[in-house]
Amino acid sequence: MSYTRHYSPFDRLLIEAQRALGTTAGRAIAERDNPGAKEADVEMDEGARRHAAGLMRINHTGEVCAQALYVGQAAVARDQATRSQLLAAAQEETDHLAWCADRLRELDSRPSLFNPLWYAGSYAIGLAAGLRGDGWNLGFVVETERQVEAHLAEHLETLPPEDLRSRAILQTMKADEARHADHAEQAGARKLPPPIPRMMALSSAIMKTVAYRL
Ligand SMILES: [Fe+2]
Ligand SMILES: [Fe+2]
Repeated sequence: MSYTRHYSPFDRLLIEAQRALGTTAGRAIAERDNPGAKEADVEMDEGARRHAAGLMRINHTGEVCAQALYVGQAAVARDQATRSQLLAAAQEETDHLAWCADRLRELDSRPSLFNPLWYAGSYAIGLAAGLRGDGWNLGFVVETERQVEAHLAEHLETLPPEDLRSRAILQTMKADEARHADHAEQAGARKLPPPIPRMMALSSAIMKTVAYRL
């Protein structure tokens, strides 16, 4: 016999608020080993270190947004299988979040000051996507993951060559994001109308500009 626990809207609100705080202010715990840990931590000059930290801060904020997006989408997903898939993807993003946070600490830097704001915005986008139905929900996952994959490819080009640890983290993330997109495609994602991918690209460009510095 199985029991289904029923939460009141207020319980749900508390659970979501706690999750938001955990993502933006807590310390994420990875399930997999940090892929950068096997690489040498090569000493970099100040300019290279700051650039690498700026890039890893962008990636950390991107992962905060991914968490918020998936959790928002899962909150209103109609189909239990879609909800489980979204929450499983959010769990893998937790590894990415933790690895980026580790690397930021190693680079003597810190996450973006605006992470709570990015979390709130992405959660709202996730809710809006989820309310349009599960095909849209999965379409959003595909578009998000493909955009992140392309952006990680760019970061791998501009990262200081001696930053082997950040490189190993970004390579693993890139492979994971590609797999997330493939799974969502196979699960029945619909193609989003063109203004939406453009708006997503625009908002991530703003996020990247800000998070690189602050
Ligand atoms: Fe990720
Ligand atoms: Fe992902």
